Amino acid sequence: MGAWTLDDIPWDRLDRSKVDPEILRIVKAASLVEQNGGDYAHYLCNVFHDDPGFQEVARHWGDEEIQHGQALGRWAELADPGFDHAKASERFTAGFRVDLDARKSVRGSRSGELIARCIVETGTSSYYSALGEAVQEPVLKAICKHIAGDELRHYKLFYTHLKRYLEREQIGFWRRLKVAAGRVAESEDDELAYAYYAANETAAPYQRKRFNNAYVRRAYRVYRAHHVERGMAMIFKAVGLTPNGRLSRFASRLAWWIMRRRMASLERAAA
Ligand SMILES: [Fe+2]
Ligand SMILES: [Fe+2]
Repeated sequence: MGAWTLDDIPWDRLDRSKVDPEILRIVKAASLVEQNGGDYAHYLCNVFHDDPGFQEVARHWGDEEIQHGQALGRWAELADPGFDHAKASERFTAGFRVDLDARKSVRGSRSGELIARCIVETGTSSYYSALGEAVQEPVLKAICKHIAGDELRHYKLFYTHLKRYLEREQIGFWRRLKVAAGRVAESEDDELAYAYYAANETAAPYQRKRFNNAYVRRAYRVYRAHHVERGMAMIFKAVGLTPNGRLSRFASRLAWWIMRRRMASLERAAA
């Protein structure tokens, strides 16, 4: 397990008066997605079937992701006694499943797989940093701080292995960029939207666009420009570009503008 356990969380400091019901909804969704870490670790062990060193790293990483789900799930249950994390997890896995049997990376190469992992860890590291800074409730703040630290470490871990595989596979810049852009676009796929649905809705039928928008509208609220800037630098590094140059700063300002525009339009639609 990682540098912390569930016992390190100051559960007795929970302050229900500081629980934001909108944040509670996205935390419930995140608690389900994190639980998929075990399945992704299994998939990575298949893809890297002849690399036992990396397989061990992947299994350890998967355990840490599962712990993120447990911490967030337990917090959500304490904040909302009506929430049952185990039941919501069952609903989620019944409707969304990672393809466990792939023997080759869906990204076309192992380097591509590691770039995709770097993108995911960039997203989670930025997200939990932003969430931890935005929330008032002290226990959730402490959990986010622990998780954000893990996610940044995960990024560094996958990046280290990416450099090792790039020496062998030598995939070009455009290929790296394509994988990264593809993985960023996938954040609009079913995983988050279905987790939001499984965690928060029991009556209405699932609709990807509706629940993706519901998730995004609440999640984007916690970001500030500096989170996007740091995330963009991490993406640039993963695809082989200068992380803190002019191009990266321009791309982060553009991404920030797009995010704010989208959020404003979602807020208008929800009003
Ligand atoms: Fe995580
Ligand atoms: Fe992670």
